[in-house]
Amino acid sequence: AKARHFKWEVSNMFWSPDCEEKVLIGINGQFPGPTIRAKAGDTIVVELKNALHTEGVVIHWHGIRQIGTPWADGTAAISQCAINPEEHFTYRFVVDKPGTYFYHGHYGMQRAAGLYGSLIVDVADGEEEPFKYDGELNLLLSDWYHESIYNQMVGLSSKPMRWIGEPQSLLINGRGQFNCSLAAAHTQGAKQCTGGGNKHCAPVVFPVLPNKTYRLRVASTTSLASLNLAIGNHKLTVVEADGNYVEPFTVDDMDIYSGDSYSVLLTTDQNPSSNYWISIGVRGRNPKTAPALALLNYRPNNRAMKLPAVAPPATPAWNDYAHSKAFTQRILARAGTPPPPATSDRRIELLNTQNKMDGGIKWSINNASMVLPATPYLGSLKLLGLKPTLGASARPAESFGRGYDVTRPPANPNTTVGDNVYVLAHNATVDVVLQNANALAHNVSEVHPWHLHGHDFWVLGYGEGAYNGDAADAARLNLRNPPLRNTAVIFPYGWTALRFVADNPGVWAFHCHIEPHLHMGMGVIFAEAVERVGEVPKAAISCGATATALMAGGDHP
Ligand code: C2O
Ligand code: CU
Repeated sequence: AKARHFKWEVSNMFWSPDCEEKVLIGINGQFPGPTIRAKAGDTIVVELKNALHTEGVVIHWHGIRQIGTPWADGTAAISQCAINPEEHFTYRFVVDKPGTYFYHGHYGMQRAAGLYGSLIVDVADGEEEPFKYDGELNLLLSDWYHESIYNQMVGLSSKPMRWIGEPQSLLINGRGQFNCSLAAAHTQGAKQCTGGGNKHCAPVVFPVLPNKTYRLRVASTTSLASLNLAIGNHKLTVVEADGNYVEPFTVDDMDIYSGDSYSVLLTTDQNPSSNYWISIGVRGRNPKTAPALALLNYRPNNRAMKLPAVAPPATPAWNDYAHSKAFTQRILARAGTPPPPATSDRRIELLNTQNKMDGGIKWSINNASMVLPATPYLGSLKLLGLKPTLGASARPAESFGRGYDVTRPPANPNTTVGDNVYVLAHNATVDVVLQNANALAHNVSEVHPWHLHGHDFWVLGYGEGAYNGDAADAARLNLRNPPLRNTAVIFPYGWTALRFVADNPGVWAFHCHIEPHLHMGMGVIFAEAVERVGEVPKAAISCGATATALMAGGDHP
């Protein structure tokens, strides 16, 4: 294992991801940010300089558990102070597990401003992947808005709330098509993209050789959109999800929610004189955003931009949830994955609702909408002791009570804010039941991909309607070969049950990965065995009330 050093400068820059020039947040003049590639067991050292003009920044390493380094998790107000303009901060952490990951901003809505990139961890020297392939293709998927994140954030907290709407384009490795299609010949009313050249928005072309097997690494860091990937004429064999091996299974298309990552194997066994479409479309919301297209370019077929003669594969209907559930339920742990403990020590039920507050709209968990404090929890809980300052109760609710009608808008739509901090005992086995419900409007329930920091969890099962913990619900749980993941979706009007072991002392966010939903309060905090956290580097917590404590205390960490 070795240390891999990177020097990054984060700054605003003009960029045209879909050929319309906007300002985004890039790293070292690149968008998306540089790909980090390492081997399992390596130490990543990123010396970050914030070169934004007037705002702080942090970077979260999505899917990396940060075992023993909770201060490197990169969550503003949770694991660290935002890094001020012109200041430096060094992230140092071990990537302990091979897999497909990514990183992104975790302050305000900076992820949606383009602050993200890929993080790929290969097996350690001398180890082998449990499947064979000849080459790799990397697809980092995102969505893109033409409105700045500042306008978006103001809209979301305005009274009445102004919703951000659907993205203008979908991006593959930071490139997309707006107001034109690569497949205009097959798309009603679309104009042909002129593409090509060195433009930021030049379409992505993946060169491949015939009769080989490729590993596609696919991750989604969308702000809002749930996606579906299909490749014309080719099947996809899923082998990895969120850095964990899964029992291989083959599909024609796959859903990817924000926060998910996968590896899929693709065999180039089609007619090599043609190129093939890679198509990414929207699911789960009535799509107003055109699919993003890229090309699988069989070599030697030297016209990289030779467009396929046929139409791109059509994305399954956005509301075909049966299709989505069928895919999700095929994801099972590969033999050899550690099984979950047979029982749990605690069950936390989290009801997800959309609510009203002071003339605005919030998302709430057990009727409290999460707000973050001025002083990062890792400092305030460790140095100053827990002081819940927000919301009605010092301890957030462990359940939402039986009898809540998930099929209708909330009977009492009003909510309040809370810090939503759940204190977890060291090594406790914790079950979380995420319960979906009807939103404020009748007959609306959305998909929410929940992401846990600091851990993988076992996805024990999914159910329809209200969870009530009875024998029928228990029978839906898979304790034999549930997949390990860090992101799991709740389907409309349904519930999802997860289990994890609180074996990584720290303060960890658990939240909906949809950026505007998190911004509207859709999350909780797990403060886990904070007394066991090692010495927190001063640089991580020198702000707010902990800065004062550090100055007074002299030789506190
Ligand atoms: Cu990828 Cu807390 O997020
Ligand atoms: Cu959500």
